[in-house]
Amino acid sequence: MASDRYEYVREFLRNEAGIVLDAGKDYLIEARVGPVAKAEGHESIDAFIRTLKDTRQGDGHRKLVEALTTHETSFFRDFDPFEVLRHKILPDLIAARRGRRELRIWYAASSTGQEPYSVSILLREYFPELTSWKITQLATDLSRPVLAKAREGRYSQLEVNRGMPAPLLLKYFKKHGLEWQLNDEIRSMVRFEELNLNAKWPPMGAFDMVFIRNVMIYFDVSAKQAILRRIHDLLPADGYLFLGAVESTINLDDRFVRAPYERSGCYRRAAVAAA
Ligand SMILES: C[S@@+](CC[C@H](N)C(=O)[O-])C[C@H]1O[C@@H](n2cnc3c(N)ncnc32)[C@H](O)[C@@H]1O
Repeated sequence: MASDRYEYVREFLRNEAGIVLDAGKDYLIEARVGPVAKAEGHESIDAFIRTLKDTRQGDGHRKLVEALTTHETSFFRDFDPFEVLRHKILPDLIAARRGRRELRIWYAASSTGQEPYSVSILLREYFPELTSWKITQLATDLSRPVLAKAREGRYSQLEVNRGMPAPLLLKYFKKHGLEWQLNDEIRSMVRFEELNLNAKWPPMGAFDMVFIRNVMIYFDVSAKQAILRRIHDLLPADGYLFLGAVESTINLDDRFVRAPYERSGCYRRAAVAAA
């Protein structure tokens, strides 16, 4: 494929989704876009990209972005954040919100749903008093296929083996052939919607916790800063931000500081942490 076509793909991905794909990753374009080009009826990646260049942004462009994003996720990913949630953060938040009896949580790159469903199971399992609270959980992603799978809540044996403890699997899922179906009660606790973090966000209100784990690693510095700025505006003074294990706000936004919980990837607004 001609190098200006790679250039077009890289440029488009950066402008559309904020994702940086360096020149060394051209093999990724070949491997991931090839099947999409074929499915879209083109004889080569080159022909597919040529068509995208010549047409207004539409379905093909969206499929290009979806093919080049990484959807890797798992239940209770990294373990520690969920332990801190269970033993420290949720008890604190529940005490602070006891008057209002309301909690709002946003999962800003929810992929196929394992992250929001892990928290939902944790809420049901360990905080039964919350059943009478108003719990709003919004889970968003830019990829339509992963959102569709998330809404379905059906996972392969391999997917549940990655992080779902056996007692919780047996309690909250039913075996359907070779797959496991999450029960309707947990599914109904999460609303999944399409949202591109690199575009305008709809009005969403404030959130007590924002999970934006393992997505900003793919973004350039200015995209990360813009997103952190907007999240800061959505978090109340005593809210919590969760980043992935290898991510940080350091050198990006000094209005956040790391919360003193080992390996949790949890951040708070600086003024509160200092108080
Ligand atoms: C690696 S997964 C992380 C899933 C989950 N947060 C976790 O940590 O397990 C990253 C997700 O971010 C989504 N994504 C990538 N760029 C995005 C953007 N600009 N806006 C919204 N979602 C995006 C991808 O579609 C993918 O599902």
